[in-house]
Amino acid sequence: MPDGLLSDKRSGDSDSEKDMDWRSRPLLELTLHIVNIHHYSARLEMPHLNGLLVQVALAHAAEHPELRRIKALFHELRSSLSEHMHEEEATLFPYIRVMEDAASGKGHLLTPPTWTLRAPIQTMSHGHANVRNLLKEMRQASSNYTASPDACFSCKILFEKLAAFDRSLVEHLYLEDEILFPRAIERRIGKDGRMRDEG
Ligand SMILES: [Fe+2]
Ligand SMILES: [Fe+2]
Repeated sequence: MPDGLLSDKRSGDSDSEKDMDWRSRPLLELTLHIVNIHHYSARLEMPHLNGLLVQVALAHAAEHPELRRIKALFHELRSSLSEHMHEEEATLFPYIRVMEDAASGKGHLLTPPTWTLRAPIQTMSHGHANVRNLLKEMRQASSNYTASPDACFSCKILFEKLAAFDRSLVEHLYLEDEILFPRAIERRIGKDGRMRDEG
C-alpha cells in the first residue's frame, strides 16, 4: 500500500481512551451513538455526495473516465449501506438492547432464548466486508481521493468529501466489528431469559 493511502484499519488506536470507554459503556448507549452519529451522517451525506458525483462525472468523465467508475462504486456502496443500516436498526440493535435490559432485570426477552446472535452478526459482518471492498476499490479508482492538478473546484470538494465519508465509515465499522458485536456475542441467554457470560 503506498504511503499515506487511506486504509480500512484505524490508525493503531484500538486501546485509546475512547475505545476503552465504549468497551465499558452500556450497549444501549453504543447502539444509539452508532445510529445517531454514524447512520445519521451517512444518510445525510450520501444523497449530497451522489449529486456531486453525477454533476462532476457529467462535466469531466470524458477527460477523467475514472469518475464513471467512482460513481458506479459509490452507487453500489450507497445501496448496500442503506439496506445494511436499516437491517441493523430494525432487527439486530433492538435485540441487543432487549438482551441488555433482560440482563439488568428491566425487561423480559420475548424472543425465544435459543435465538442466537451469531447468525445475524455474521450476516452484518459479511455486509461490512462488502462495504470495505467497495471502499478499497473507490480509493484505488480515485488515487486515494486525490484530485488531478487540473481538477475543477467541484471535483476537489467531491474528493475531500469522499475522503471524509470514508474515514467516518471506517470508524463506524470499527465500532461495530471490534466493540459492539464482540461484546454482544460474548454473552448468551440462559434458560431463565437472563444474559450470562458465555463459556
Ligand atoms: Fe451500522
Ligand atoms: Fe454495520
